[in-house]
Amino acid sequence: MSPLSLLEYHAATRHSLESVRSSGHGLDWPNQPLPFKIYTSLEPLTLPLSFSASQSSALDAIARACAGSDGLPDLQMVARLAYFSNGVTRVIRRMPFRAAACTGALYHIEMYLICGDLEGLEAGVYHFGAHDNGLRQLRRGDYRFVVASATGDEPHVEQAPLVAAFTSTWWRNAWKYQARAYRHAFWDTGTIVANLLAVACANGVPAHELVGFADTELNRLLDVDPAMEATICLVSLGQGAAPPVNAPDLPALALPTQRLSAQQVDYPLIVEAHRASSLASGAEVLAWREALASAAPPQTGTADGADARRRADHSSMGPLRGIEEVILHRGSSRQFAHDAITRGQLEVMLDVATAPIPSDAPVLTQPYLIVNAVEGLDSGTYAYNRSERQLELLKTGDFRREAAFLDLGQELAGDAALNVYWLANLDHRANRDYRAAQLEAAIEGGKLYLAAYALGLGATGLTFFDDEVTSFFAPMPEANW
Ligand SMILES: Cc1cc2nc3c(=O)[nH]c(=O)nc-3n(C[C@H](O)[C@H](O)[C@H](O)COP(=O)(O)O)c2cc1C
Repeated sequence: MSPLSLLEYHAATRHSLESVRSSGHGLDWPNQPLPFKIYTSLEPLTLPLSFSASQSSALDAIARACAGSDGLPDLQMVARLAYFSNGVTRVIRRMPFRAAACTGALYHIEMYLICGDLEGLEAGVYHFGAHDNGLRQLRRGDYRFVVASATGDEPHVEQAPLVAAFTSTWWRNAWKYQARAYRHAFWDTGTIVANLLAVACANGVPAHELVGFADTELNRLLDVDPAMEATICLVSLGQGAAPPVNAPDLPALALPTQRLSAQQVDYPLIVEAHRASSLASGAEVLAWREALASAAPPQTGTADGADARRRADHSSMGPLRGIEEVILHRGSSRQFAHDAITRGQLEVMLDVATAPIPSDAPVLTQPYLIVNAVEGLDSGTYAYNRSERQLELLKTGDFRREAAFLDLGQELAGDAALNVYWLANLDHRANRDYRAAQLEAAIEGGKLYLAAYALGLGATGLTFFDDEVTSFFAPMPEANW
């Protein structure tokens, strides 16, 4: 039997009028999974929770990938990076909400940290427990060698003192979204990574996101079973550490964790899709990266902020909030006034959201917009030309009703000043590229959330009818932007 193509997975999990009408899937509330992974036999190292504001403006931090400088983050910095990425930032009616948006507020993404010796933190593999803001040591010793070799000795990873690994626990999201939850693994990791990259940048910590790694090695290191929970992406943090030369043994741990719910339903399509897009070794990672680079259009801009082309000027965009303050105030808007935003605000948001992500994957997606109310811009549909940083008009008209329809009939899309969709043509692409495209769209979506809040506006993620969105924007421009 030939392995599953991720385009087959995508087709099997698309929302259509028919699939939504005939789904019949109800929510089994008493069986709702726990939104945390809680190790029951490990003592936490409780992390500090008071942070000074970082100095740079949030918009700068979201837009730029800071070159940063050599040096090792200390425990206080580790705490900051973890909390503002995946921590609990507010509790509303006894329901904990996190720093980053997450489909259904189901919080199925876990954060692990792999580090050499840092000030205040000995070398090890740790899990960040958002429920008590604690780090739990899963393995003691420097395991960065395992991560470096799993990424094909990727240079950012090789010299990073600290690497964050994000996993999704399928059932915690599939409880509501069934097999479509596999897409959400990337979407909900992406919003977290957007926060992490911005907080790292604001604090001078170089960061680099990686989609390519040998899956089995990473999952073994974190001691997760990919039938239940698997690694989605890595972010290297810091630079200038001596490359690790080897690692201690890697025994299975089988550490007990709190039960998620009374019963679990398996979604074999998720496990199969993940297996079919897995890479077996560092050598396979290198081959994937090479093929991806040669197939992709040339990168626009550089990720180190040295890009000479003019970016939209956001220095006059009101009070400069720091990224931590923006994250603490972020939430998904539940209502939009029909008011227009300014064209300057739109340009800044797009500019910041699409600024190059420091990543091992080139750009794969194309943003499309429905503009409902932007002063100085005709209402209608647009494609965003990444290299020229400008909107190309597709159709003028009032599309508020269509926007609400496309987003599963949700009025929020019709009421908002604009909607952004990320589309990708993945025909003849490797399965791993599917992961890269989903993640890229979600990181940019996460950056857009942050940029909107930095400007004092609101935003929300929304899901959609797949094919209807594609046909709505057709015919697409030919350009390889
Ligand atoms: C990718 C993505 C898709 C989302 N889709 C919807 C949606 O279709 N409808 C909706 O009301 N909220 C949607 N949300 C918002 C989540 O429900 C929200 O993030 C979650 O409840 C947590 O709340 P917070 O963002 O205010 O912290 C989405 C969020 C993300 C990240």
